[in-house]
Amino acid sequence: MRTLEKLFENNRAWSQRMTASDPEFFARLVGQQAPDYLWIGCSDSRVPANQVVGLLPGEVFVHRNVANQVLHTDFNCLSVLQYAVDVLRVKHVIVCGHYGCGGVRAALDGRPLGLIDHWLRHVQDLWHHHSAEVEALDGERRIDRMCELNVIEQVDHLGRSGVVQDTWRLGRPLHLHGWIYGLADGRLRDLGVGCSSAEEAAALQKSLLRPSTLRLSTLPPTT
Ligand code: CO
Repeated sequence: MRTLEKLFENNRAWSQRMTASDPEFFARLVGQQAPDYLWIGCSDSRVPANQVVGLLPGEVFVHRNVANQVLHTDFNCLSVLQYAVDVLRVKHVIVCGHYGCGGVRAALDGRPLGLIDHWLRHVQDLWHHHSAEVEALDGERRIDRMCELNVIEQVDHLGRSGVVQDTWRLGRPLHLHGWIYGLADGRLRDLGVGCSSAEEAAALQKSLLRPSTLRLSTLPPTT
C-alpha cells in the first residue's frame, strides 16, 4: 500500500499506450512545452482540465485551487499567470468553474471547516455583493448561480491584473474566458464574459457593479 502499486501499473500502461500510438510523443515533449491555453480551474477531482477539453500533455498549462479563485494577493496563481503569459506566451486564459462546487457550497453554508474558511471568505464576500439576486433563488439554483458569478468575478480579477493589463498595453493578443462545467452532463458552458482588451475588461467590471445586467442561470451547454 505504501507504494500505491495500482497507480504505477496504470502509469506503465498509459505510457505504453501513448508510445504505441505515437512513438515520438514523449521525445517531442522533452524539448519544450508550447501550450496555447492556461486553465484556471477548481481542484475538484471531477473536473480534470486535460480530459474535459480533450487536450494532451503539453497542450494546456494548469492552475487549480478550491473554487477556482484568482485573488490579487495569491502569488501562487499570479506566478502561474505571469509565467504562462510572459514566458510561454499562451493566447487564452480560461477560468473554468463547475456547477455544484463544494467550495462554493461550503462558503454559503458558513459551517466552520478550518483553515479553508479564510480562502472561501472571498466567495462569501461575493455572495453578499449579489445577495439580492441569489437569495431569490432556491436550493441548488442558488449554489449554481453563485458558481457562475464566482467565475465571472475571477475573469474580472484577471482583466485587472498587472500581467494581463501589461500584455494588452504591449499590443500582444490575449483572450480571457469564463466557462462553467456541468458535472451532470460533462459539458462546458461559455458564460459570455470573455475579454480581449482593456476596454472589454473595463466594461465587464462596470457590469459587475450592476449585478442585474449579468445573465441568468442556468445555462445550456455550449454547442
Ligand atoms: Co469546485
